Amino acid sequence: MKGTAKAHTNIALIKYWGKRNDALILPTNSSLSLTLDGFYTKTTVEFRRDLSSDLFLLNDQAVSGQAYERVSRFLDLVRKLSGEENIYAEVNSRNEVPTAAGFASSASGFAALAAASTRAIGLELSDEELSILTRQGSGSACRSIYGGFVEWQMGEREDGLDSRAVQVAPEDYWDVRVAAVELSSTMKKVSSREGMKRTVDTSPFYSGWLEAIPNDLMQLKAAIKEKDFEKLGAIAEANCLKMHATTLGANPPFTYWHDTTVRVMHAIQEMRSKGIPVFFTIDAGPNVKALYLPEHEEVVKSMLENIPGVTSVTLSRTGKGISYL
Ligand code: PMV
Repeated sequence: MKGTAKAHTNIALIKYWGKRNDALILPTNSSLSLTLDGFYTKTTVEFRRDLSSDLFLLNDQAVSGQAYERVSRFLDLVRKLSGEENIYAEVNSRNEVPTAAGFASSASGFAALAAASTRAIGLELSDEELSILTRQGSGSACRSIYGGFVEWQMGEREDGLDSRAVQVAPEDYWDVRVAAVELSSTMKKVSSREGMKRTVDTSPFYSGWLEAIPNDLMQLKAAIKEKDFEKLGAIAEANCLKMHATTLGANPPFTYWHDTTVRVMHAIQEMRSKGIPVFFTIDAGPNVKALYLPEHEEVVKSMLENIPGVTSVTLSRTGKGISYL
Protein backbone atom coordinates (compact mmCIF):
# COMPACT_ATOMS: atom_id res chain seq x y z
CA MET A 1 0.00 0.00 0.00
CA LYS A 2 2.63 2.43 -1.16
CA GLY A 3 2.56 5.26 -3.71
CA THR A 4 4.97 7.96 -4.87
CA ALA A 5 4.10 11.08 -6.84
CA LYS A 6 5.68 14.31 -7.96
CA ALA A 7 3.87 17.65 -8.34
CA HIS A 8 5.06 21.10 -9.40
CA THR A 9 4.11 24.39 -7.86
CA ASN A 10 2.16 27.01 -9.81
CA ILE A 11 1.96 30.78 -10.03
CA ALA A 12 -1.45 32.42 -10.41
CA LEU A 13 -1.86 34.99 -13.20
CA ILE A 14 -5.46 35.56 -12.11
CA LYS A 15 -5.40 35.13 -8.33
CA TYR A 16 -7.58 33.02 -6.07
CA TRP A 17 -8.45 35.46 -3.32
CA GLY A 18 -11.31 34.62 -0.95
CA LYS A 19 -13.34 31.62 0.17
CA ARG A 20 -17.09 31.09 0.20
CA ASN A 21 -16.74 27.92 2.26
CA ASP A 22 -13.74 27.56 4.60
CA ALA A 23 -14.15 23.85 5.39
CA LEU A 24 -14.45 22.66 1.79
CA ILE A 25 -12.12 25.41 0.45
CA LEU A 26 -14.59 26.75 -2.09
CA PRO A 27 -13.41 30.01 -3.66
CA THR A 28 -15.37 33.20 -4.35
CA ASN A 29 -13.67 33.55 -7.74
CA SER A 30 -12.16 31.42 -10.48
CA SER A 31 -8.39 31.70 -11.02
CA LEU A 32 -5.79 30.83 -13.68
CA SER A 33 -2.19 29.76 -13.16
CA LEU A 34 0.97 28.57 -14.84
CA THR A 35 2.54 25.34 -13.54
CA LEU A 36 6.30 25.77 -13.01
CA ASP A 37 8.99 23.27 -13.87
CA GLY A 38 11.63 24.52 -11.46
CA PHE A 39 9.84 23.85 -8.19
CA TYR A 40 8.30 20.57 -7.08
CA THR A 41 7.52 18.19 -4.23
CA LYS A 42 8.08 14.43 -4.32
CA THR A 43 6.05 12.44 -1.81
CA THR A 44 5.85 8.78 -0.86
CA VAL A 45 2.89 7.56 1.18
CA GLU A 46 2.76 4.12 2.74
CA PHE A 47 -0.34 2.93 4.61
CA ARG A 48 0.70 0.47 7.33
CA ARG A 49 -1.37 -1.71 9.66
CA ASP A 50 1.26 -1.41 12.41
CA LEU A 51 0.86 2.37 12.83
CA SER A 52 -1.52 3.87 15.40
CA SER A 53 -1.26 7.41 13.97
CA ASP A 54 0.09 9.11 10.84
CA LEU A 55 3.77 10.03 10.53
CA PHE A 56 4.89 12.98 8.43
CA LEU A 57 8.51 13.56 7.45
CA LEU A 58 9.49 16.61 5.41
CA ASN A 59 13.03 16.57 4.01
CA ASP A 60 13.79 13.76 6.51
CA GLN A 61 12.61 15.76 9.56
CA ALA A 62 9.56 14.64 11.55
CA VAL A 63 6.87 17.32 11.43
CA SER A 64 4.40 18.03 14.26
CA GLY A 65 1.93 20.82 15.11
CA GLN A 66 -0.23 22.63 12.59
CA ALA A 67 1.53 21.36 9.45
CA TYR A 68 1.16 17.77 10.71
CA GLU A 69 -2.54 18.30 11.53
CA ARG A 70 -3.24 19.58 8.00
CA VAL A 71 -1.62 16.51 6.45
CA SER A 72 -3.37 14.09 8.81
CA ARG A 73 -6.76 15.76 8.25
CA PHE A 74 -6.22 15.45 4.52
CA LEU A 75 -5.42 11.74 4.92
CA ASP A 76 -8.73 11.41 6.80
CA LEU A 77 -10.49 12.47 3.58
CA VAL A 78 -8.55 9.86 1.60
CA ARG A 79 -9.35 7.16 4.19
CA LYS A 80 -13.02 8.06 4.10
CA LEU A 81 -13.13 8.00 0.31
CA SER A 82 -11.54 4.53 0.21
CA GLY A 83 -13.59 3.03 3.04
CA GLU A 84 -10.34 2.12 4.88
CA GLU A 85 -10.96 4.22 7.96
CA ASN A 86 -8.56 2.61 10.45
CA ILE A 87 -5.23 2.55 8.71
CA TYR A 88 -2.46 5.11 9.16
CA ALA A 89 0.31 6.25 6.87
CA GLU A 90 3.94 7.20 6.84
CA VAL A 91 4.36 10.23 4.60
CA ASN A 92 7.81 11.13 3.27
CA SER A 93 7.99 14.44 1.40
CA ARG A 94 10.91 16.11 -0.28
CA ASN A 95 10.49 19.73 -1.26
CA GLU A 96 12.46 20.94 -4.25
CA VAL A 97 10.91 24.35 -3.76
CA PRO A 98 13.91 26.36 -2.58
CA THR A 99 12.74 28.52 0.31
CA ALA A 100 14.90 31.14 -1.37
CA ALA A 101 12.48 31.29 -4.27
CA GLY A 102 9.75 32.49 -1.96
CA PHE A 103 7.10 30.07 -3.09
CA ALA A 104 4.68 28.53 -0.66
CA SER A 105 5.18 24.78 -0.96
CA SER A 106 1.54 24.04 -0.16
CA ALA A 107 0.48 23.86 -3.84
CA SER A 108 3.02 21.24 -4.90
CA GLY A 109 2.91 19.65 -1.44
CA PHE A 110 -0.82 18.90 -1.33
CA ALA A 111 -0.97 17.90 -5.00
CA ALA A 112 1.82 15.33 -4.48
CA LEU A 113 0.24 14.14 -1.21
CA ALA A 114 -3.16 13.67 -2.86
CA ALA A 115 -1.73 11.72 -5.80
CA ALA A 116 0.59 9.51 -3.70
CA SER A 117 -1.94 8.75 -0.96
CA THR A 118 -4.83 7.87 -3.28
CA ARG A 119 -2.50 5.62 -5.28
CA ALA A 120 -1.23 3.98 -2.07
CA ILE A 121 -4.70 3.22 -0.73
CA GLY A 122 -5.83 1.78 -4.05
CA LEU A 123 -8.20 4.52 -5.26
CA GLU A 124 -8.39 5.03 -9.01
CA LEU A 125 -9.30 8.70 -9.41
CA SER A 126 -9.58 10.70 -12.62
CA ASP A 127 -7.55 13.93 -12.78
CA GLU A 128 -10.80 15.82 -12.20
CA GLU A 129 -11.62 13.82 -9.06
CA LEU A 130 -8.04 14.24 -7.87
CA SER A 131 -8.26 18.02 -8.35
CA ILE A 132 -11.49 18.16 -6.31
CA LEU A 133 -9.86 16.17 -3.51
CA THR A 134 -6.60 18.17 -3.61
CA ARG A 135 -8.52 21.44 -3.35
CA GLN A 136 -9.64 20.40 0.14
CA GLY A 137 -6.01 20.28 1.30
CA SER A 138 -4.95 23.64 -0.17
CA GLY A 139 -6.93 25.68 -2.68
CA SER A 140 -4.15 26.63 -5.07
CA ALA A 141 -2.93 23.00 -5.04
CA CYS A 142 -5.91 21.84 -7.13
CA ARG A 143 -4.31 23.64 -10.12
CA SER A 144 -1.02 21.69 -9.76
CA ILE A 145 -2.67 18.45 -10.94
CA TYR A 146 -2.23 19.77 -14.49
CA GLY A 147 0.71 21.20 -16.41
CA GLY A 148 0.88 24.44 -18.39
CA PHE A 149 -1.93 27.00 -18.12
CA VAL A 150 -4.63 25.85 -15.71
CA GLU A 151 -7.97 27.34 -14.72
CA TRP A 152 -9.59 26.61 -11.36
CA GLN A 153 -13.28 26.93 -12.09
CA MET A 154 -14.96 28.01 -8.86
CA GLY A 155 -18.17 26.05 -9.48
CA GLU A 156 -21.62 26.72 -8.08
CA ARG A 157 -22.43 23.71 -5.98
CA GLU A 158 -22.53 23.75 -2.18
CA ASP A 159 -20.79 20.35 -2.02
CA GLY A 160 -17.87 21.55 -4.18
CA LEU A 161 -18.11 18.72 -6.70
CA ASP A 162 -17.84 21.20 -9.58
CA SER A 163 -15.00 23.29 -8.07
CA ARG A 164 -11.89 21.95 -9.76
CA ALA A 165 -9.09 22.77 -12.16
CA VAL A 166 -9.05 22.20 -15.91
CA GLN A 167 -6.14 22.55 -18.31
CA VAL A 168 -6.31 25.56 -20.63
CA ALA A 169 -3.09 24.78 -22.57
CA PRO A 170 -0.38 22.14 -21.99
CA GLU A 171 3.16 22.89 -20.83
CA ASP A 172 4.70 22.67 -24.31
CA TYR A 173 2.17 25.10 -25.82
CA TRP A 174 4.07 28.32 -25.10
CA ASP A 175 7.51 28.95 -23.62
CA VAL A 176 6.68 31.66 -21.07
CA ARG A 177 9.33 32.02 -18.36
CA VAL A 178 9.13 33.05 -14.72
CA ALA A 179 11.88 34.52 -12.52
CA ALA A 180 11.26 34.13 -8.80
CA VAL A 181 12.80 37.17 -7.09
CA GLU A 182 13.56 36.73 -3.42
CA LEU A 183 14.04 39.70 -1.13
CA SER A 184 16.16 39.95 1.97
CA SER A 185 13.28 40.33 4.43
CA THR A 186 10.69 37.69 3.72
CA MET A 187 8.81 37.52 7.01
CA LYS A 188 5.21 36.74 6.17
CA LYS A 189 3.02 38.32 8.81
CA VAL A 190 -0.44 37.52 7.47
CA SER A 191 -1.07 34.01 6.09
CA SER A 192 -3.03 33.67 2.84
CA ARG A 193 -5.84 32.06 4.84
CA GLU A 194 -6.06 34.96 7.31
CA GLY A 195 -5.47 37.60 4.61
CA MET A 196 -8.31 36.28 2.43
CA LYS A 197 -10.69 36.08 5.35
CA ARG A 198 -9.97 39.60 6.52
CA THR A 199 -10.42 41.16 3.07
CA VAL A 200 -13.59 39.18 2.32
CA ASP A 201 -15.08 40.18 5.69
CA THR A 202 -14.00 43.83 5.89
CA SER A 203 -12.60 45.35 2.68
CA PRO A 204 -14.99 47.67 0.79
CA PHE A 205 -12.80 47.01 -2.28
CA TYR A 206 -13.60 43.30 -2.24
CA SER A 207 -16.75 43.67 -4.35
CA GLY A 208 -14.69 45.53 -6.98
CA TRP A 209 -12.24 42.62 -7.03
CA LEU A 210 -15.03 40.14 -7.70
CA GLU A 211 -16.57 42.33 -10.41
CA ALA A 212 -13.26 42.46 -12.28
CA ILE A 213 -12.65 38.71 -12.43
CA PRO A 214 -14.87 37.56 -15.35
CA ASN A 215 -13.35 40.10 -17.74
CA ASP A 216 -9.77 39.46 -16.54
CA LEU A 217 -10.27 35.73 -17.07
CA MET A 218 -11.78 36.18 -20.51
CA GLN A 219 -8.96 38.51 -21.61
CA LEU A 220 -6.25 36.25 -20.22
CA LYS A 221 -7.65 33.20 -21.99
CA ALA A 222 -7.75 35.19 -25.23
CA ALA A 223 -4.11 36.26 -24.70
CA ILE A 224 -3.10 32.60 -24.22
CA LYS A 225 -5.00 31.57 -27.32
CA GLU A 226 -3.38 34.35 -29.38
CA LYS A 227 0.03 33.85 -27.71
CA ASP A 228 0.00 37.60 -27.09
CA PHE A 229 2.62 38.01 -24.35
CA GLU A 230 2.14 41.76 -23.78
CA LYS A 231 -1.55 41.18 -23.25
CA LEU A 232 -0.95 38.24 -20.91
CA GLY A 233 1.57 40.21 -18.86
CA ALA A 234 -0.55 43.34 -18.63
CA ILE A 235 -3.61 41.41 -17.42
CA ALA A 236 -1.62 39.36 -14.89
CA GLU A 237 0.10 42.45 -13.47
CA ALA A 238 -3.14 44.42 -13.20
CA ASN A 239 -4.95 41.48 -11.60
CA CYS A 240 -2.20 41.16 -9.00
CA LEU A 241 -2.46 44.89 -8.20
CA LYS A 242 -6.23 44.59 -7.77
CA MET A 243 -5.80 41.71 -5.34
CA HIS A 244 -3.23 43.61 -3.29
CA ALA A 245 -5.44 46.73 -3.33
CA THR A 246 -8.15 44.81 -1.43
CA THR A 247 -5.76 44.32 1.51
CA LEU A 248 -5.24 48.07 1.91
CA GLY A 249 -8.99 48.49 2.37
CA ALA A 250 -9.27 45.76 5.02
CA ASN A 251 -9.81 46.38 8.72
CA PRO A 252 -7.20 46.36 10.13
CA PRO A 253 -5.44 47.28 6.87
CA PHE A 254 -2.38 45.36 5.76
CA THR A 255 -0.06 44.85 2.82
CA TYR A 256 2.27 42.04 1.79
CA TRP A 257 4.68 44.51 0.20
CA HIS A 258 8.03 45.59 1.59
CA ASP A 259 10.08 48.53 0.35
CA THR A 260 12.10 46.19 -1.87
CA THR A 261 8.88 44.71 -3.30
CA VAL A 262 7.93 48.16 -4.58
CA ARG A 263 11.49 48.78 -5.84
CA VAL A 264 11.33 45.58 -7.92
CA MET A 265 7.89 46.51 -9.28
CA HIS A 266 9.21 49.91 -10.38
CA ALA A 267 12.35 48.39 -11.94
CA ILE A 268 10.20 46.00 -13.97
CA GLN A 269 7.93 48.78 -15.18
CA GLU A 270 10.95 50.91 -16.05
CA MET A 271 12.46 48.08 -18.04
CA ARG A 272 9.21 47.83 -19.93
CA SER A 273 9.32 51.50 -20.77
CA LYS A 274 12.68 50.77 -22.43
CA GLY A 275 11.08 48.15 -24.67
CA ILE A 276 11.69 44.88 -22.78
CA PRO A 277 8.38 43.05 -22.26
CA VAL A 278 8.58 41.97 -18.61
CA PHE A 279 5.73 41.97 -16.10
CA PHE A 280 5.32 41.14 -12.41
CA THR A 281 2.95 39.21 -10.20
CA ILE A 282 3.01 38.85 -6.40
CA ASP A 283 1.32 36.31 -4.11
CA ALA A 284 0.51 36.61 -0.40
CA GLY A 285 4.07 37.63 0.51
CA PRO A 286 6.75 40.20 -0.34
CA ASN A 287 8.56 38.28 -3.12
CA VAL A 288 8.02 39.13 -6.77
CA LYS A 289 7.68 36.84 -9.79
CA ALA A 290 8.69 38.31 -13.16
CA LEU A 291 7.15 37.03 -16.40
CA TYR A 292 9.18 37.24 -19.61
CA LEU A 293 9.98 35.45 -22.87
CA PRO A 294 13.12 33.29 -23.45
CA GLU A 295 14.85 35.87 -25.68
CA HIS A 296 14.92 38.34 -22.77
CA GLU A 297 16.11 35.93 -20.09
CA GLU A 298 19.63 37.26 -19.69
CA VAL A 299 18.77 40.93 -19.58
CA VAL A 300 15.85 40.36 -17.19
CA LYS A 301 17.93 38.20 -14.85
CA SER A 302 20.80 40.65 -14.60
CA MET A 303 18.46 43.61 -14.12
CA LEU A 304 16.67 41.82 -11.27
CA GLU A 305 19.90 40.65 -9.58
CA ASN A 306 21.21 44.20 -9.47
CA ILE A 307 18.28 45.66 -7.53
CA PRO A 308 19.39 46.50 -3.96
CA GLY A 309 17.63 44.18 -1.48
CA VAL A 310 17.23 41.28 -3.93
CA THR A 311 19.00 38.19 -2.57
CA SER A 312 18.33 35.64 -5.30
CA VAL A 313 16.70 35.19 -8.70
CA THR A 314 15.59 31.65 -9.62
CA LEU A 315 14.45 30.95 -13.18
CA SER A 316 11.76 28.52 -14.25
CA ARG A 317 9.99 27.26 -17.35
CA THR A 318 6.47 25.90 -17.65
CA GLY A 319 6.03 22.59 -15.86
CA LYS A 320 3.94 19.47 -16.20
CA GLY A 321 1.19 18.05 -14.06
CA ILE A 322 1.23 15.19 -11.57
CA SER A 323 3.45 12.23 -12.31
CA TYR A 324 3.55 8.84 -10.56
CA LEU A 325 6.92 7.32 -9.84
O1 PMV B 1 -4.03 28.09 -1.67
P1 PMV B 1 -3.39 29.05 -0.72
O2 PMV B 1 -4.02 29.05 0.62
O3 PMV B 1 -1.88 28.86 -0.69
O4 PMV B 1 -3.64 30.55 -1.28
C1 PMV B 1 -3.05 31.06 -2.44
C2 PMV B 1 -3.35 32.51 -2.61
C3 PMV B 1 -2.51 33.24 -3.64
O5 PMV B 1 -1.25 32.63 -3.78
C4 PMV B 1 -2.31 34.66 -3.17
C5 PMV B 1 -3.19 33.31 -5.01
C6 PMV B 1 -3.22 32.04 -5.82
O6 PMV B 1 -4.16 31.91 -6.60
O7 PMV B 1 -2.31 31.21 -5.74
